[in-house]
Amino acid sequence: MKNIAVLVSGSGTNLQSLIDQAEKGTLGGSIRLVVSNREDAYALERARRHGIEAQVLTPKRLGGSRAFNLALVELLRSRGIDLVVLAGFMSILAPETVAAFRDRILNIHPSLIPSFCGKGFHGIKVHEAVLEYGAKVSGATVHLVDEGTDTGPIVAQRSVEVLPGDSPERLQARVLAVEHELLPACVRAFCQGRLRVEQVPGKRPIVHWD
Ligand code: GRF
Repeated sequence: MKNIAVLVSGSGTNLQSLIDQAEKGTLGGSIRLVVSNREDAYALERARRHGIEAQVLTPKRLGGSRAFNLALVELLRSRGIDLVVLAGFMSILAPETVAAFRDRILNIHPSLIPSFCGKGFHGIKVHEAVLEYGAKVSGATVHLVDEGTDTGPIVAQRSVEVLPGDSPERLQARVLAVEHELLPACVRAFCQGRLRVEQVPGKRPIVHWD
């Protein structure tokens, strides 16, 4: 059974979807640890309510980003974590952290990458930008985390239609509903060894589902 850590910063509805599947035995792995960079993340409450170890690590409290990343890697290793899932996690991981868990960190982003992603595109801002642009389709992306922001190899995507008169909140709610299906499906595929990263020199790595 793979050991999973989920990194959070907010309400934790994606964490909840992972917990629900883990408790049904359909996740393919066990959530051993939840880490938040924010004391007030409701996601921590969700973890505690389900008897999952919940830790708060903040760059401020640890004396900066470098110390934060060192403490994070130490904690993940001490718990024998096989897969790290970023579910609304708002701190940037250092290159050393990404390297320590190469191709073992999944992130969920609420748009169809490479659209509406990268610096500044998070939370409701993503959906505001989609509507402002006049896009007719949005959706969710799960990708492996590399040293960039939302730039890692794409694992899975699912589209969501933008409806006439949509507000950012209504679009966000429809995309979230898709996220809550897509992320557990990708976690399960990883835990069952069904994801394979094809490295082609000079090209973007491609993720295959076996
Ligand atoms: C989700 O929309 C996710 O795509 C984005 O942040 C949000 C987290 O929501 N990265 P929650 O904390 O899982 O409810």
